[in-house]
Amino acid sequence: MDVYHFPADLAQIIDDAAGEIGEDPARLAERVLALSDLFVGRGDWQGDYGRSPALREAYLRYYLPVNVPKVRTPLAAWLAPDPGRFAGRTLRAIDLGSGPGSALLGLCDFVRGLPPPQRPQKLELVALDQSYENLKHAQALVGCFGARAGLAVEVQPLRLDLVADRAELFPLAAAHGRFDLVLAANVLCEIARGSAAHVERAAALVSAAAEELLAARGALVIVEPGLRETARDLHRVRDRLLRAGVLHVLAPCLHEAPCPALGADRDWCIADLAWEPPPAVRAIARRTGLRKDSLKFSYLLLARDPSRAPAPTRWRVVSDVLELKGERRVYLCADGRWIVLGQLKRGRPPAGSDFARLRRGDLVEVHGMEARGSIFRLAAHGAIRPIAPPPLAPAADGDR
Ligand SMILES: C[S@@+](CC[C@H](N)C(=O)[O-])C[C@H]1O[C@@H](n2cnc3c(N)ncnc32)[C@H](O)[C@@H]1O
Repeated sequence: MDVYHFPADLAQIIDDAAGEIGEDPARLAERVLALSDLFVGRGDWQGDYGRSPALREAYLRYYLPVNVPKVRTPLAAWLAPDPGRFAGRTLRAIDLGSGPGSALLGLCDFVRGLPPPQRPQKLELVALDQSYENLKHAQALVGCFGARAGLAVEVQPLRLDLVADRAELFPLAAAHGRFDLVLAANVLCEIARGSAAHVERAAALVSAAAEELLAARGALVIVEPGLRETARDLHRVRDRLLRAGVLHVLAPCLHEAPCPALGADRDWCIADLAWEPPPAVRAIARRTGLRKDSLKFSYLLLARDPSRAPAPTRWRVVSDVLELKGERRVYLCADGRWIVLGQLKRGRPPAGSDFARLRRGDLVEVHGMEARGSIFRLAAHGAIRPIAPPPLAPAADGDR
């Protein structure tokens, strides 16, 4: 299985920043659990949790590293058709609801992992958040990691309320030019909370960002928690944006029909990234019992131009592999529908086809699918293979 190893140098930079605040493992674990309760909706929502230094420390030590790797999945999908698109050029990105800079750090980490001839010459980054303290951390952490990674990085903080201030301040944010990338990680769910029209509010923010911030060939990356309700809300936002006709979806969807996951209450679509967490996250997970063996999240990669129609043999894996007696099954999405594909366990699978190792979120090529009543089965001569997973390891030291 391909595993993303959290970079030791970034873990050290985060430790150093959080270390200035102070540490007591038992109290830290309590605070992480308090944040977890807040994020999963246990108890009343407190939108101002970022004001508490104790909760900010807990966020830095746990949720920041947990969120950093998630953007690499949509970023890899974005650059897959033209990996050298920013080679030798400046890439401009803005992170909406940046917190301490998780998505921007993920972007820097992703860029460092590109082969040197494909890397942008410079990253011009804007971190936007309502919290002054978060912006201070974002600026320091991204600046420090950029320098450590040997990247030319410029970070500007912009304090603004994405709901109340954006009409005046989005044009200001784009004053030096529009952005190749607009990132929004784990923020739509906060903006939408408590509003009866939460999906409309989130979709309005994404539309405004597309209209006022995004460069013509740019892309919007939205990451949300992998919880059932937050993921399903993101599917609803997707359907609303596609109906409005302003944006197209490049990933994870291979079609623009209404999201099939919304057809049944029990379904939602997430990606699942295998990772090796930094030691500090492992220690917190042990104390709290929070499980982060792999990173589960929902995401959307959106752009103004549609992607080329995918080959009819391409599907997105939208479930874990289900182990039944004598058969493995997996749910796949494409062409506006979810299907179930099974493979009998007896017999030898074709070379290069490894059904058991498929993960949620994989893009796969399937050959030899046969209809069997309401499901499909992989023929004896058939094959299912993941396509170009995101690069998982940062470049070796010698490449930097
Ligand atoms: C869960 S954190 C996500 C931080 C970071 N993007 C990540 O993925 O780790 C949500 C962030 O959104 C910010 N936020 C929430 N509502 C906001 C609003 N109305 N305007 C600006 N920022 C907001 C919060 O201050 C917080 O930093």
